[in-house]
Order: sequence, then C-alpha cells, then structure tokens
Amino acid sequence: MSDLASLELLAKTELDACADEPTLRAWNTKYFGANGEVLAALKAIGTIAKDQRKTYGQEANRIKETLTQTYDAMLSAAKERALDASLTANPLDITLPGRPVQRGRLHVATQIMRQIYDIFADMGFQVYRTREVEDDLTNFELLNMPPHHPARDMWDTFHTTTPGVILRTHTSPGQIHVMREVCPDPIRVILPGMCYRYEAITTRSEIQFQQVEGLVIGEHVTMADLKGTITAFARRLFGQERQVRFRSSYFPFTEPSIEIDIDWPKEDPNADRLTKGTGWLEIMGAGMVHPVVLRNGGYDPAKHSGFAFGMGPQRITMLKHAIDDIRQFWANDVRFLRQF
Ligand code: DAH
Repeated sequence: MSDLASLELLAKTELDACADEPTLRAWNTKYFGANGEVLAALKAIGTIAKDQRKTYGQEANRIKETLTQTYDAMLSAAKERALDASLTANPLDITLPGRPVQRGRLHVATQIMRQIYDIFADMGFQVYRTREVEDDLTNFELLNMPPHHPARDMWDTFHTTTPGVILRTHTSPGQIHVMREVCPDPIRVILPGMCYRYEAITTRSEIQFQQVEGLVIGEHVTMADLKGTITAFARRLFGQERQVRFRSSYFPFTEPSIEIDIDWPKEDPNADRLTKGTGWLEIMGAGMVHPVVLRNGGYDPAKHSGFAFGMGPQRITMLKHAIDDIRQFWANDVRFLRQF
C-alpha cells in the first residue's frame, strides 16, 4: 500500500472513532493543523519525482477533500447532539414571554423647559446659560440691591465658606453677565437654570427650583414690546384664548415693574381654588430694565433701553397639570414622573 493510502486509512479510522466535538477538533489538529500529517503530504507534492507528481498530487488532494467533508459533517452533527443533550438536561421554555423593558421619558421639568425654549426660539431668543454659584455683588448689588436693602429679605440664600460666594437666588444675575459680554450689541436671550433659596420646605416652596429669565436690550425697546412678547408667549403656552393682565409691582432691578397674570379657564374645577376666587393667576414678574442695571452692564441708558422678565417653570407646570405639591419635582418618585 502506498504511503498516501495508508495515511488515508489511518486518518479515516481515527476520524470514525471520534464521538464528540473535542475529539474531532483534536483529530483535525493532528491531520490538518500546522504540523498536520495530511497537510505535510500536500506540502510534499513539490518534492515528488516529476513523472509521479501529477498522480500523487491528485490523490493527495482527493484525500484532503474527502476527509475534510466527512470531518465537517461529523462536527456539525456532534454540535447538534451536544445542544440537544443540553436542552434535554436543562429544559428551557422559549414560549415564556420576556420581561418588558421599561421605557424612559423626559422629566416633567425638562419637558416644560423645552416647550418654553421652543416658544422663545420662534421669537428669535437665544438660550444663555450662566453660573449657579454667584457672588453677592452680581446676585444683589449690581441688580440695584445694595447691602441692607430691604428687598434682599425676599431672597435669603445659601452661603459658601468663601465670604461673598453664594448660590444664586434667581437667574437675574445672568443679566449682568450677558450684558457685560455682549455690550454694546443688542440682546435677546432667555436665561434658564436652577436657583436656590433658604426657605422652609412646604407644598409651595422648595430650596431649589428652576427659573427662566428673559432679557431684551436695544435702541427704542419699550413696554409695548414687553407686553407683546409676553402675551404671545402666554397664549402659545396656555392657549390662544387666554387673556393677559399687567399689574404694576416693584422689583429693584426694573422701573417700572409689573406682574403678569393670565385668566384661568372657568371650566376648570380647580379654577376657584387656584385663583382664590379672582379668576386671575400670576405667571411672572417683569419690567423695564432699571437705568442703574443698564449702566452696570455697560450700556448707556440715554441710548439703550430694555425689558426683563422672570418666571418659575415649576409653578407653571403645577398650573398646567394641577399638581398640588412642588416637592414632587425633585423627589424622584417614578409614580409621579410617569404621569407626564
Ligand atoms: N428675579 C425675580 C425673582 O426671583 C423675578 C423677576 C422679576 C425677574 C422681574 C425679572 C424681572 O427679570 O424683571 O423673584
């Protein structure tokens, strides 16, 4: 028997004896691995005497083909047997429905913020972000509230261990930052963000809450621009049929100052309670930027004028969805958050 014939016989006999994947793989390494015997026989073709080379080559390749085919078939059969055995040993009910994955959603505070951004973006406002950690100078003094000004009582806050460094009590100090950056160009921005106050926590007040401030500066900006802007905003957010009311008020950083109310739908069963019987509900403070504040921002009040407003989106969300406890917003209770 030729060398090739005995090699084939031996390889085939050993292959037939392989019962599972590990033995099959070991066989494959023995005959077809880097030092495999069938591989060596194939490599030897070049060394065979010329007159026998063709016959030898054809035979060697035929052996390789037959063995490989048998090996492949046996390997997949062995794998299938192993899978069957493991499924019988550890039964798996693939008809059992899976556990549903809970879908996430945007926090209700994020949703209202994005609505507000959209409405102001349509009116040409940009979003200007400013710091939450402020100094006393920017949070109060430059906004026309010198030390010991009684208006400061409305904004008690958290102090850091660095004297004069505080958590901002409102977004209004952002007005100073944006003015000093942009002056003397015109401004049309909203300034959203978290604010902090040292307060007793109740259903109506929290130590942290968001505000959206607005600031418009230019030549010939008037109270009419303020009224038009806010009316358009309130109708987009609360409904086109809403009436908007402007009441005179006081803020140190605006002159004149106003507060803005909307009429609340009488059909709402909560209307009486929400509006304390008046039918009107306050949504924000606003006014014409005080000349002192304009000057602190770098603008000349003889040439430039502007308006500003500030609102609390949590308050607005509570109105829209009849939420009766402001503490829900940051309590991280999914039962509350899932409702929006
Ligand atoms: N900063 C005020 C507050 O926190 C809100 C406010 C009122 C902002 C009037 C303004 C404004 O820009 O013009 O209560």
